[in-house]
Amino acid sequence: MSESADITRSQKLKQRLRFYEDLGLAPFYRERGSSRSSQPPSPASSVAKPSHSIEEPPLPKSSLKPPDVPPLVCPAKALLPLTPAPPSLFEAANRSHSETLLQIRDDLGECTRCKLHTTRNKIVFGDGSPQAKLVFVGEGPGADEDAQGLPFVGRAGKLLTQMIEAMGLARPDVYICNVVKCRPPGNRQPEPGEVEACSPFLFRQLDSLQPKVIVCLGATAFQTLLQSNRSISHFRGQWLDFRGYKMLPTYHPAYLLRNPAAKADVWKDLQKVMAELGLEVKKTKAK
Ligand code: URA
Repeated sequence: MSESADITRSQKLKQRLRFYEDLGLAPFYRERGSSRSSQPPSPASSVAKPSHSIEEPPLPKSSLKPPDVPPLVCPAKALLPLTPAPPSLFEAANRSHSETLLQIRDDLGECTRCKLHTTRNKIVFGDGSPQAKLVFVGEGPGADEDAQGLPFVGRAGKLLTQMIEAMGLARPDVYICNVVKCRPPGNRQPEPGEVEACSPFLFRQLDSLQPKVIVCLGATAFQTLLQSNRSISHFRGQWLDFRGYKMLPTYHPAYLLRNPAAKADVWKDLQKVMAELGLEVKKTKAK
């Protein structure tokens, strides 16, 4: 092959790779030890493909145990929240039921991975049934949760408990956890670095639980799982896919305390969840 044909082909390949990177389909790997082919790899074979999409079945179990790698956040993905956020190869390999919640809690230990450890009293890992088919994910512990080491036990938590009971369930039937496990001082939003350090534990909890439905309470939970910076109001009440799990974002109970009129929307959302779980959908209104 002529030198100029080689250069053109290499330029085309670079352009094609940049195009896939712009779409958020990164990173790219060359298989270690694979023999150098005289043919450039086709993009389809060199791209780390999303391992499943909305229609695809869950990933097969894997015995690989990669290091904790925070999900990749790339601006292109943030603009395309409804395209399946492609799991990284590590996430895909991580998707296994074999870890118990206790093992994950053990691994978290007396965590010092971010600065929230300097101001927390208790780590709030999560609470509920390891067999739960329904998981609620909030943002992070508040003062009451920090004092007790349990999620959603303050005012917003009492409202969440009422919502769960209105669905015909009890708190111990479900699992409740947060994006960050330590209280952000003054109840501020967790910072991106804090979410990055802590969210791999949330993902592992979800993979251990393998729930039928995940309800994201508020923007932080929804944005963390979908790796999007879009407003929750665009997606509230819609079924979305989180790595093969059915996920539905709704308003945070703390928001409902400030805006009681929004309870009707949340109740509609929870009725969708009840239908999905095969629970009797009552026609009653949320109080
Ligand atoms: N708000 C949250 O997001 N999580 C809690 O655990 C309590 C309040």
